[in-house]
Amino acid sequence: MGHGIGEMLAMTGYHVMLIDINDELLQKAREKIKWSLDKFVEKKRIRREDADSALARVSTTTSYEDACRDIDMALEAVPENINLKKEVFSKLDAVSPPHALFASNTSTLSITEMGEATRRPDRVAGMHFFNPPQLMTLVEIIKGVNTSQETINTLTELAKKLGKTPVIVRKDVRGFIVNRILGVVFNEAFWAFKRGEATKEAIDSSVKYTGGFPMGWFELADFVGLDIAYEVGRILYEAYGERFKPCSEIIDPLIKEKKFGQKTGVGFYDWTKGRPRIPFELLDEYDVERSWAVAVNEAAWIIQDDAANPEDIDTGMKLGTFWPSGPCEYADRTGLGMILNKLEEMHAKHNMEMYKPCPLLEDYVSKGWVGKKTGRGFYK
Ligand SMILES: NC(=O)c1ccc[n+]([C@@H]2O[C@H](COP(=O)([O-])OP(=O)(O)OC[C@H]3O[C@@H](n4cnc5c(N)ncnc54)[C@H](O)[C@@H]3O)[C@@H](O)[C@H]2O)c1
Repeated sequence: MGHGIGEMLAMTGYHVMLIDINDELLQKAREKIKWSLDKFVEKKRIRREDADSALARVSTTTSYEDACRDIDMALEAVPENINLKKEVFSKLDAVSPPHALFASNTSTLSITEMGEATRRPDRVAGMHFFNPPQLMTLVEIIKGVNTSQETINTLTELAKKLGKTPVIVRKDVRGFIVNRILGVVFNEAFWAFKRGEATKEAIDSSVKYTGGFPMGWFELADFVGLDIAYEVGRILYEAYGERFKPCSEIIDPLIKEKKFGQKTGVGFYDWTKGRPRIPFELLDEYDVERSWAVAVNEAAWIIQDDAANPEDIDTGMKLGTFWPSGPCEYADRTGLGMILNKLEEMHAKHNMEMYKPCPLLEDYVSKGWVGKKTGRGFYK
């Protein structure tokens, strides 16, 4: 992620210094940037001379002192481990000018904790890019407890300068927007599979061909990496409790056997001969409204927590995962009452917190704010 983000900054005209733990990794990072810039030239997205000057703006070092002496901003993309991240922020703090802003590309960890490892917690925020950062246009900007509005504004402007669409996560909540909603949707599918309600092929077929999502949930989990999905799931469970109860019987054996999905060749599917074929003929064996219901419910929790607004939630899901619609706009079109009924039906049947309607959703329905047809739902 670090070299991809560095490449974009350099393409936008910034001078970038990449830091890593040894020269060999830095050399590899530079080669990857060069390869990617060449691809952009080949596809006529940028001119040769612009690619060359972008590459010339990228330097590398293993020394935090050399890198940070006169920076305006540092962006951290070290492995997802809070102690390592705190150590990195404390080092950056010691050697960077006082005005410099710090951002973390973390997918799940606490921005507040990272900020507290520095003497400038007001200047530390989350800036969560999606993979590959050169191509994906979404950036989640996350406010830690101590982050100033000025820092959020500056990073939002920076994201726009990079040609990205920023969405604001106003609270330091785990999973931010996209991973949180995806997490509950994955869990619903895993539990349905475990209960024997549908096979993974049937769930993926329905999600893809009936729901219009770009990938089925099992296919997507394999694509993201089951080790990552597992870790995000664990953090969500720790943060939100039973609502994110993981389906251990399904995922743990794969983790134990290091079957992480596409990157290891096997996960839920066999990827050794390329992308798995999701059978078209099973397209109505799983009710995709169930995926939507838990997604809308989690969106309602995010809004109730005052962590993000419906526009940013919808933008996040559309740009971060290519959903055909955001959950809030979907609910407004379908009717919030229908979503609530589906949740109540599932809750009565399975008695799981995942299906328990969020009080905000119940409140909207009781007020008659059921969506487009009444002029008010998540949107007016
Ligand atoms: N991979 C993704 O799809 C993705 C997407 C969004 C966000 N993220 C987040 O981005 C971060 C990085 O993920 P990644 O997949 O690029 O990881 P990675 O393991 O591929 O890269 C991390 C890099 O950090 C380097 N590093 C380790 N310790 C360091 C230190 N003390 N100082 C400087 N460099 C150090 C490593 O040598 C390595 O090159 C994580 O927080 C992850 O959650 C990843």
